[in-house]
Amino acid sequence: MSPLLALGLLLAGLCSVHCLPENVVVKDQDRRARVDDHTLASSNTDFAFSLYKQLALKNPNKNVIFSPLSVSIALAFLSLGARGSTLTEILEGLKFNLTEIQETEIHQGFQHLLQALNQPNNQLQLSVGNAMFVQDQLKLLDKFIEDAHVLYSSEAFSTNFGDPEAAKSLINDYVKNKTQGKIEELFKVLSPETVLVLVNYIYFKAQWKTRFDPKHTEQAEFHVSKNETVEVPMMTLDLKTPYFRDKELGCTLVELMYTSNDSALFILPDEGKMQDLEAKLIPETLTRWRESLHPSRIHELYLPKFSIKSNYELNDILFQLGIKKIFTDAADLSGVTGTRNLVVSQVVHGAALDVDEEGTEGAAATGISIEKLAFQRTTVRFDRPFLIAIVLKDTQSIIFLGKVTNPTQA
Ligand SMILES: *[C@@H]1O[C@H](CO)[C@@H](O)[C@H](O)[C@H]1NC(C)=O
Ligand SMILES: *[C@@H]1O[C@H](CO)[C@@H](O)[C@H](O)[C@H]1NC(C)=O
Ligand SMILES: *[C@@H]1O[C@H](CO)[C@@H](O)[C@H](O)[C@H]1NC(C)=O
Ligand SMILES: *[C@@H]1O[C@H](CO)[C@@H](O)[C@H](O)[C@H]1NC(C)=O
Repeated sequence: MSPLLALGLLLAGLCSVHCLPENVVVKDQDRRARVDDHTLASSNTDFAFSLYKQLALKNPNKNVIFSPLSVSIALAFLSLGARGSTLTEILEGLKFNLTEIQETEIHQGFQHLLQALNQPNNQLQLSVGNAMFVQDQLKLLDKFIEDAHVLYSSEAFSTNFGDPEAAKSLINDYVKNKTQGKIEELFKVLSPETVLVLVNYIYFKAQWKTRFDPKHTEQAEFHVSKNETVEVPMMTLDLKTPYFRDKELGCTLVELMYTSNDSALFILPDEGKMQDLEAKLIPETLTRWRESLHPSRIHELYLPKFSIKSNYELNDILFQLGIKKIFTDAADLSGVTGTRNLVVSQVVHGAALDVDEEGTEGAAATGISIEKLAFQRTTVRFDRPFLIAIVLKDTQSIIFLGKVTNPTQA
């Protein structure tokens, strides 16, 4: 399995932990708020690793890249409209322990997080946002509109899904614009039955604190597996940066800092140890790593320059993670319109990550399309022995009565 696999989660996974604490302005609200931010970050990390494991399992021997934060925010946004066990499933699927944190605290947590991430920062380009595309005739509850706006800073666009190609272009172009052209086609198809689409996007661009010199980048071997080797542009650097040799899990970690003091953590499992390491990806491991990383001189760091992309449909994977009802006619999304007649048809996610001598550029988006539940179709199949009675209406006389056990028998 390619070591690049590991990269996928880092940036994104780390961001959900690391982008948080330092620069969040916690003024008057104090401990309580900080406890919530911490709970939010640790639930998000738990969700990130769970989602990673499912994606890695479904895409063996392929690069994996996604933004767990984008998926978490999009699902939390959707949960504003969910009720009953549909709601509980989403929040528990996002790894919140509902005996410890309440729904309103979760939404406030995401509200703080969105505000913190969107603070202007001259060392870092980071923008995270939400939008909803609403079928012209769909009447949303005022409460849903207000919460979407206040808690998730969502923009709203009236959309004619009757013309699915035009609706798809409108949404995909919006995402493309917000991700600086990096996510070009979030939705591949959009059904004409769609009445509502929720979108989250993330764009990130940062420069390494210590940049690689392009003059030192040379073609070198990268061992995809024991048998397969490819040539890659390999960057190289001599620097002092947080480093940890994890003997217990059999891997080496290097943390590269951006000028903003955010960072990317690169994890290199020992040969043949990728799967063992993947199994140990849990929030406690990340915490232990963070405590163990210490600045060290690395005389020669070799890191490939790369550009990877992905496009996933997450329906099955979310189902595996326990978020099931939203996809079935048992869905209760009555918080959106007041009526229990909506169902999620697709959850799609696209991500792109470029790592080069200057730094990192990454973008991701998550889209959730929602349809009206089709009218219940009733099917009755007489495909086993049955009875028959033919009754004359006026006299209520049973004129024939029988049992059909084998229709092919004379
Ligand atoms: C949720 O939190 C409670 C109280 O802290 C704890 O007893 C319980 O084990 C937790 N549940 C899960 C699934 O972690
Ligand atoms: C995104 O849209 C804004 C406003 O319409 C425009 O000014 C900007 O150039 C667009 N950016 C990209 C990358 O298309
Ligand atoms: C590697 O190549 C050897 C010999 O060609 C073969 O027996 C083995 O199955 C290959 N291993 C993998 C992982 O492809
Ligand atoms: C990053 O951290 C260093 C050391 O703690 C500090 O001197 C510097 O001002 C920080 N830079 C930013 C952009 O926060």
